[in-house]
Amino acid sequence: MNREARATSQETRKLTALKRKDLLGIRELDVDEINLILDTAEVFKEISTREIKKVPTLRGKTIVNLFFEPSTRTRTSFEIAGKRLSADTINISVSTSSVVKGETLIDTARNLEAMVPDAIIIRHAVAGVPHQLARMVKTPVINAGDGAHEHPTQALLDALTIREHKGRLAGLKVAILGDIAHSRVARSNTFLLTKMGAFVAVSGPQTLLPPGYDQLVDDGLMVTPRIEEALEDADVVMVLRIQRERQKESFFPSLKEYAVRFGLTEERLRLAKDDVIVMHPGPMNRGVEIASEVADGPYSLILDQVTNGVAVRMAVLYLLTGGSAAKLTSSESVQ
Ligand code: CP
Repeated sequence: MNREARATSQETRKLTALKRKDLLGIRELDVDEINLILDTAEVFKEISTREIKKVPTLRGKTIVNLFFEPSTRTRTSFEIAGKRLSADTINISVSTSSVVKGETLIDTARNLEAMVPDAIIIRHAVAGVPHQLARMVKTPVINAGDGAHEHPTQALLDALTIREHKGRLAGLKVAILGDIAHSRVARSNTFLLTKMGAFVAVSGPQTLLPPGYDQLVDDGLMVTPRIEEALEDADVVMVLRIQRERQKESFFPSLKEYAVRFGLTEERLRLAKDDVIVMHPGPMNRGVEIASEVADGPYSLILDQVTNGVAVRMAVLYLLTGGSAAKLTSSESVQ
């Protein structure tokens, strides 16, 4: 059975709960768990369209947001997701916490756990920190981005957006363009999309294509420095930001040159399929990796991704704090 058929046939088996305490990455999730999260997010999405956007599902639960790196979308959408489910959500600002007095991650984690939260969401510049935290505490830990390693809820919200617009993931060609070497979004999406039977074409300057990336997954992945080859007949184009905060050296001569050689313009986009969709996880550098006419154009789903981020994070919070799909078969059951 080929990869696409395998992913499709597995969709017929329905899980009702996740098989793990934490959500640390996409690499360890199986197809059933990915489908469970996406199906649950679809049910929860309707709540955000109501006049009163709140249900009592997680009443009495406490969610801690612990962000050691800046964030607009992820932190806000986790907070909104918790609040829409009636959880108490607490944002810890690292700059005003005892971390600045030298408290270690272990001590920070133990002290947070002593206050009996129901989930801890963590973003950190160092790869593997959420995994370390998850080993230290009994509380479910959600990785909101660790270094250049993984950003699982971003890949899940991207998958929900593609599924909504294309009706499926299997069999699609997805081009991921930009700074692949420093991108946790590229890694999580590569794991998710290839597991689900899509074909991923990753492209960027040779200096930003990490050696060995083509061995990340068994099959369904192409790595090329020729952006035109990645774009040709693509169903989906994902554009990534240059992660300058993670770059210790120069990987290309100038931003202007990057824009000319690798930026997604209307002209380049014409190489993709006529019904292509364009995505970007944000924040965008307009005029560098993506032209404004493309970011704001008719193929762009960039703000739909943000909307879906709330639904996916509601689903993840629900499933990791004891929720089950068996109790949640339709939006009518979410009162
Ligand atoms: N996509 C994403 O992670 O955005 P933020 O850095 O604003 O959370």
